[in-house]
Amino acid sequence: MPPPKTVKDYIRTIVDFPHDGVMFRDVTTLFADPRGFRIAIDQMLHPYAGQPIDKVVGLEARGFILGGAIAHQLSVGFVPIRKKGKLPGAVISEEYQLEYGEAVVELHDDAISAGERVLLVDDLLATGGTAAAGIRLVERLGGEITGCAFIVDLPDLGGHARLTEMGMEVHTLCA
Ligand code: PRP
Ligand code: ADE
Repeated sequence: MPPPKTVKDYIRTIVDFPHDGVMFRDVTTLFADPRGFRIAIDQMLHPYAGQPIDKVVGLEARGFILGGAIAHQLSVGFVPIRKKGKLPGAVISEEYQLEYGEAVVELHDDAISAGERVLLVDDLLATGGTAAAGIRLVERLGGEITGCAFIVDLPDLGGHARLTEMGMEVHTLCA
């Protein structure tokens, strides 16, 4: 009997998307598989078993899918960090550089209370620009980042080292 599939086995790579030279790690195939999605959520939660977490913050867009499931599992609230101009209430903003481009992310200014312990969630860590901007937003509201959880790590792009240097506890499931 073949060994059971790992999280990585459910993820496909699309070459030259969205630009030439990018090897795009497509997690939609993982999300679409009932076993794949479940083991990914379980494995992302594993390092935080027994740790107090008050809120899950998810980064647009795939961090919403993961963060919603993780927040439900932890019975805590979910807070979205969105690209510029998408949130309806008063926001705080942070600029950042992407592997391919520049962007701004925003957080409702009343979404996190001072002292709340936050688990930051996204599908993939590349340069770490998106996650670092998300961390800055949460910390500007007085939130404390308990950890940062991702499915895919692209360590050659420096994000893992960057977040670790910021003092973050980083957990990823595969490279
Ligand atoms: C991807 C991914 C992360 C980010 C990682 O999102 O989902 O959020 O890039 O890259 P970084 O570590 O270099 O910042 P993308 O910006 O493609 O946005 P989308 O999820 O809205 O498509
Ligand atoms: N975001 C930044 N780099 C990416 C990649 N290689 N695959 C998927 N999402 C990404």
